[in-house]
Order: sequence, then structure tokens, then C-alpha cells
Amino acid sequence: MDKIIINGGKKLSGDVQISGAKNAALPVMAAALLTMGWNTFHNIPDLVDIKTIKKLLISIGAKIETNGTTIRVNADHINHCEASYDLVKTMRASILVLGPLVARMGQARVSLPGGCAIGARPVNLHIKALRDMGAEVDIKEGYIEARSKRLKGSTIYFDMPTVTGTENIMMAACLAEGTTLLENAAKEPEIVNLADVLIGMGAKISGAGTDVIRIDGVKKLSSVEASVIPDRIEAGTFLIAAGMTRGDIRILGCNPSHLETVITKLRSTGIEITSIDGGIRALGRKKTKSVDMKTQPYPGFPTDLQAQMLSFMTIAGGLSVITETVFENRFMHVGELMRMGADIMIEGNRAIVKGIDHLRGAPVMATDLRASASLILAGLVAEGRTEVSRVYHIDRGYEDIEKKFSALGADIRRVRETK
Ligand code: UD1
Repeated sequence: MDKIIINGGKKLSGDVQISGAKNAALPVMAAALLTMGWNTFHNIPDLVDIKTIKKLLISIGAKIETNGTTIRVNADHINHCEASYDLVKTMRASILVLGPLVARMGQARVSLPGGCAIGARPVNLHIKALRDMGAEVDIKEGYIEARSKRLKGSTIYFDMPTVTGTENIMMAACLAEGTTLLENAAKEPEIVNLADVLIGMGAKISGAGTDVIRIDGVKKLSSVEASVIPDRIEAGTFLIAAGMTRGDIRILGCNPSHLETVITKLRSTGIEITSIDGGIRALGRKKTKSVDMKTQPYPGFPTDLQAQMLSFMTIAGGLSVITETVFENRFMHVGELMRMGADIMIEGNRAIVKGIDHLRGAPVMATDLRASASLILAGLVAEGRTEVSRVYHIDRGYEDIEKKFSALGADIRRVRETK
């Protein structure tokens, strides 16, 4: 297992290129299961989660070709409508094959994901929506078993805006009979990206990006060539890095309109953020103001940047209250940050963070994907050496993170962990 070693205190400056969004690439690749012919997807990041979805699609019978950031997927011959526990336990987003398989093949067997480091994370809303569309769904031996000759369009109300739930059912509804309305749908840019790709395949979808999505079912979909959007969470992480290190970073290839809430919040900490050709520039200030922040579904502040923001607030000038409303257990990074000297108190779903002058380097352990990013950020500003172990979490969702930080001037390297 690898470790990331950081000697903190370097001011970061220069250009960083943002990769394609993992959370956009995964559903788009799953959508290929709805089609015949070769689909071509550009701007796919090189990440462990992408390798996992490739493995999953291949196990279902799809053919895949990879050429740099372009991936081609052909699902002409599906012969195994299953996502095994082995794959689903390493990546919950494997659930994204459920809707497409039921819609195209009339059946699917997908392992239930179970709990994870950030909470229980049930998939009851995915299941309820499929039942609303006429599918028979049973839970057997830890697997969701769903069957339907042809799904029927229906009006589905999500009790909570669920991102992968909206994506799953939007994909399923494309091949259903009649019209499906998804109410209280999630509005994330990744959903709009998926809808655009499905429309390119011949689907009839309107309203993606609002809380009501209408899908008029069609008999078949054909292959498409499309790109995935840039990763707004990676871009947000570099924005925060500029603030924490008082650096000057040009974040290229991002889409600032996907980051409006994040940019507004970060500006109020004192980071100067301006539009430049091809992206944004973030200039950190000597003094950082503490701000309160609450995570919310898009367009609110993303839960996937909560850990990084919390890390930032540990060295800001004052008291900050960070409220997590999306996942119930997403403060695993707090204990690790406290090992670096941070002053944080947890009260229910709130973290009360008292800014201190300096964090101190320490051995810390990554507990989930975004938590690992928060520890790397902390290591970049801490006095002395920080060793982040269990970095396989970060490889699930950040492409070349240590190379990108190193190119900006950080003293950061990856080493093989000895047993
Ligand atoms: C997606 C993202 C993840 C992000 C999260 C919230 C992908 C691959 N992952 O995860 O990075 O952190 O959105 O922005 O896109 N819920 C239920 N029942 C369900 C489904 C969800 O109660 O059937 C709850 C969850 O426990 C959570 C909330 O709804 O409290 C939102 O979760 P959801 O949007 O579904 O997260 P994911 O799609 O798994």
C-alpha cells in the first residue's frame, strides 16, 4: 500500500489542469448498456473507480477500448446481468448498472452496497422508483433482484434528492413505455451531463438540472460520441489549496458555473478568485476569515468538499461552524486533523472549528476519498512532515494528485508502504 509524504509550508503557484469528473464518467459509462454500437466517451479520468466500472461492464459482457482519456464501450452482447458483491463493495456507484440492465434486458441482479465510511447510504429510493415503474424487486442473499418485461412510465417522487438514484431511474425511464416524471430530482451538473449524453443516444428528456425531469420512453437507443464535464470537486480542492497555502493557482479546464456556491463561500474567506482564459485564478491571502458552511444538495455547498473546507478552517482566523446535512457520519477526518493539532469539536452533525496558527505534521490515515484530500491539504500547510497512509482512497477519485501538487511547488511524494 502506498503512502503520501508531505513536507509542509510551501506556497503553491502555477497552473493545474482539471481532469474529467469521476461522478459524471461513471453514469455515462453505465448508460452505454442501453445502446447498440460503439460509444465513444472523452475526458475520462484515469482513476481506480473508472477501472472498477470497466471491470463491471466487461463482466456484464460489454467490450471496452481505452486510448488515453478516451474510452469506447460496446454493449451489443450482454450475457450476465449482474453486479457482484466483490465489485459493489469496492465502489457503491456500481448500483448505476441496475436501471440500465432492467430497462434493456428485463432483469438485473445487483449486490446491495451496505454501509460505508460516511454513513448507512441506503438505496431504497432506487428500489422504490423501479417498483413504481412496475418492476418486481426482491432482496435475496444480499442482492437486489429486479425483473420487468418493459418498465412503465410513472410519476416518481424522491423523498430526498439522490444523485445516483436520479441517474439510475432517468436511464431506466429512457426505454420505458410512456412518460416518467422524476420529482424532487437531484440537480447536480453530472445529471445534466448524463441527460445530454442520453439525448445524444436518442432519448427524450427535458428538465435535467431542475427538480422535475420528464422522460418520454423510446424503443431503442443508439451509440453516441460525447465528453464528460470537468471535475468540480477537484477544482474546488485546488481553490481551497490556494487559500490554505496563500498561493496563486490558475485552475484550468474547470467550469466556473458549476462552482458558483463554492466560489462565493471561498471569496468570503478572503481568497481572491477571478475568471481567466480557460478557467479561474485563485489567490490566497495572508489572513483568512473563518466562515460557517452547511453542505446541501446542488446548487448548495457540496458534501464532497466539506472535509477540504473543514481542513481550511482549522487554520483560519476565528470560529467556524460546519454543518453536514447530506451524510450522517462524514466527520471521520476530524480525528486525524486533531492529531495534527487542529481544534475541533463535534456536536451531532456540526463541527465547531477554532482556527489555530499552525498545524503540525503527523502520521495520519485516510478514511474515505474526500477525507484523504483534506489530510493532504492539511499536510501542505503543516509544520514538518505529514505521512498520509491508506491513500488507495484518494486514487479512487483524484487523478495524479501528488504530481499535480508537486508541479505547483509542493514537497510531496508517494512511497510504497513496507509491511
Ligand atoms: C453521489 C456522489 C457522491 C456524493 C453524493 C452527494 C456519485 C457516484 N457519487 O453519491 O460523491 O457525495 O452524491 O452529493 O455520483 N439516500 C437514501 N436512499 C437512497 C439514496 C440516497 O436515503 O435510496 C440518502 C443518502 O443516504 C444521503 C442522501 O440521500 O443521505 C444523498 O445521497 P445520494 O445523492 O444518493 O448519494 P450518492 O448518489 O450515493
